[in-house]
Amino acid sequence: MSETRLEHVEDALRHALDAFLGAPSEGALAPVEEALKAFEAAVREAAGAASSPAGLAAVEQQALRQKGALNQTLRSLGPVPGEWRKVVGAAANRTRAACAEALAQATERLEASGARERSTFDVTLPGRKPFLGRPHVLNQVRDEVVGIFRGMGYSVAENREVEDDHHNFGALNFGPHHPARDAHDTLFVEGGALMRTHTSPVQIRTLESQTEPSPVRMLFPGRVYRAEQIDATHASEFHQVEGLYVDRGVSMAHLKGALSEWARAFFGARTRTRFRPSYFPFTEPSGEMDVSCFRCEGSGRRKTAEGEVRCNLCKGSGWIEILGCGMVHPNVFRAVNYDPEVWTGFAFGMGIERIAMLRYGISDIRHFLESDLNFLEQF
Ligand code: PHE
Repeated sequence: MSETRLEHVEDALRHALDAFLGAPSEGALAPVEEALKAFEAAVREAAGAASSPAGLAAVEQQALRQKGALNQTLRSLGPVPGEWRKVVGAAANRTRAACAEALAQATERLEASGARERSTFDVTLPGRKPFLGRPHVLNQVRDEVVGIFRGMGYSVAENREVEDDHHNFGALNFGPHHPARDAHDTLFVEGGALMRTHTSPVQIRTLESQTEPSPVRMLFPGRVYRAEQIDATHASEFHQVEGLYVDRGVSMAHLKGALSEWARAFFGARTRTRFRPSYFPFTEPSGEMDVSCFRCEGSGRRKTAEGEVRCNLCKGSGWIEILGCGMVHPNVFRAVNYDPEVWTGFAFGMGIERIAMLRYGISDIRHFLESDLNFLEQF
């Protein structure tokens, strides 16, 4: 800002005015008008250059003060003859109004930039953490299970949750009076359909969908339903991952190899597996796979501050039951028009909730469905 420039134009104005007041004439008027224009330009410039409210107030104070040249000009016009007084008075008033306008604009500009300054955030402050979502713990476990099998060349498919009796039971070699068809286990839908009680019907739908019998190496994750009395370990809807490998010459050794490989990838490289005989209508032979307990490393004992105690995860046995499995039953191949003399395969199925509960020490299956962030944010 140039106060000196303003002082300078004030002097020039006083000078021109003095000359005019001494002998009003057209010739003496021109320098006055010019001096007024110079005064206005100086105020405009100073106001535009002001970078703070205080600086702007100083410009205003200087330009429009009572004893400033502009106000003096207006006051000194009393003795001037009427015609001239009008002309000079109007010019001085125009200058005054223009200066006031320039000052008002400058005030606005400063206020706007001041607001901007106040809202500018401090980049050195730690950021506010945005709320980040994440996959549900069940989806995390599912993706991990599936990911390991993908690495072994399996692909993934999903299929319907509302099934018919044929796909959920009949084609899977459940005899007409098998207890799993009992209304106490199966949730029926109007019109004879039912909520699938396991992911095994996707085996049937997948084999059926091949235009001609051909190898299959797939995983079928999904939700299943049972008419359960709900408690800490039973829910009426839960999740499974099913696996199916069909080809020529598939043996039990392939089954054990693939599942043991998966168990080591999922539970840790030192994990051992064991296969016990079991029964499922759609596999023969059928088995359960146990893994060595990942809490006590299979010893059944755990060291605590009070000495050695029984491992509470495997109940001291050193083994944890993880999944059901078996070689695809010839009747399943027949149901989907695969020649059982040519085709062989293995299948397995595991419960996601069960695996998540074992791994994370979750004591109640109902947590998974409750959408309680205090629970979900732990995973
Ligand atoms: N479908 C069986 C169950 O729900 C699990 C299973 C799948 C067993 C595939 C063997 C082969 O218990």
